[in-house]
Amino acid sequence: MKTVPFGPADAVAPNVVAGMMRINDSSDDQIRDLYRAARDAGIDFFDHADIYGDHVHHCETRFAEALSLSAAERDEITIQTKCGIVKDAGGVFDFSYDHIIRQVDGSLKALQTDYIDVLLLHRPDALVEPEEVAKAFDELEGAGKVRSFGVSNHTPGQIDLLRTAVEQKFVANQLQLSIAHGALVTQGIAANMMGLEQSAVLDGGGLLEYCRINEITIQAWSPLQHGMFRGVFLGSDEFPELNAVIDRLAAQYGVEPIAIAIAWITRHPAGMQVVLGTTTPARVAAAAAGSDVYLTRAEWYELTRAAGHRVP
Ligand SMILES: NC(=O)c1ccc[n+]([C@@H]2O[C@H](COP(=O)([O-])OP(=O)(O)OC[C@H]3O[C@@H](n4cnc5c(N)ncnc54)[C@H](OP(=O)(O)O)[C@@H]3O)[C@@H](O)[C@H]2O)c1
Repeated sequence: MKTVPFGPADAVAPNVVAGMMRINDSSDDQIRDLYRAARDAGIDFFDHADIYGDHVHHCETRFAEALSLSAAERDEITIQTKCGIVKDAGGVFDFSYDHIIRQVDGSLKALQTDYIDVLLLHRPDALVEPEEVAKAFDELEGAGKVRSFGVSNHTPGQIDLLRTAVEQKFVANQLQLSIAHGALVTQGIAANMMGLEQSAVLDGGGLLEYCRINEITIQAWSPLQHGMFRGVFLGSDEFPELNAVIDRLAAQYGVEPIAIAIAWITRHPAGMQVVLGTTTPARVAAAAAGSDVYLTRAEWYELTRAAGHRVP
């Protein structure tokens, strides 16, 4: 498993991590098998959010209940969680001091831990007041409840706004990225081309470059989906050309097709982390193998074109 820079100078984390959004209906044994497959593959980084599951903190609770980690094993892993989306409120975001503190306390309880390694602000709050966020972060850091902070789905301008008050370094920005949902990466290739959707600035402009310049690790969520949860592109009839290239490269590298989908992301020199969503242990192992596949430039661009992106 390859690692990427993450957080403080010289610190690293695996470039494939395990997302826990879909463990809602998993049994204790299934969660234990998933965790074991991840650890065996070199993944010691687990992504949560307060809103994952049928009710608030449900997936966090299921994870902790099923694993009952010893203090020593808890210290071996990185637990990341998120707050800022108000569950079941029909589209309300809340970055207020009170909400952040309350949700983190709930996550600590649900996860049965004294500290969260990484806390992300889940999706931008239009009513954000950076001073409120700063006050919450200072208190959480001071109390030892949260060790580092980041964002998710944020534009450069939104991060800069937070930075007017927040003093902690933003270690990560979790963003949707897959070969089939590649605008974050492919937009720049087609900059300033008339009448091309790919050329439209959808991310505040220069988001990829902003994260690289500011040493914010990009975490790619939904690495196998196209659109907003429209389905998995692997094996899909909607992507015949892409799957043909993926299958050929998978055979060439001696890996499963899923590994090639992961390698397209990990090949990028920004040093991204892929956030897997599968609940199938065998798929975790097969996907993790993508971490060690280093695609050539020609292969990377061929995959990009085969997914339908314009490479002028
Ligand atoms: N920050 C955000 O706004 C945000 C948003 C969404 C997600 N996330 C994070 O990102 C993680 C990953 O998201 P995701 O679950 O959408 O990612 P994903 O890995 O793209 O999708 C996982 C889903 O695809 C299925 N799948 C995987 N490989 C497959 C294959 N070869 N054939 C058919 N189905 C396959 C899985 O089924 P099985 O489980 O049956 O294998 C699972 O339902 C989440 O767990 C969460 O931690 C963050």
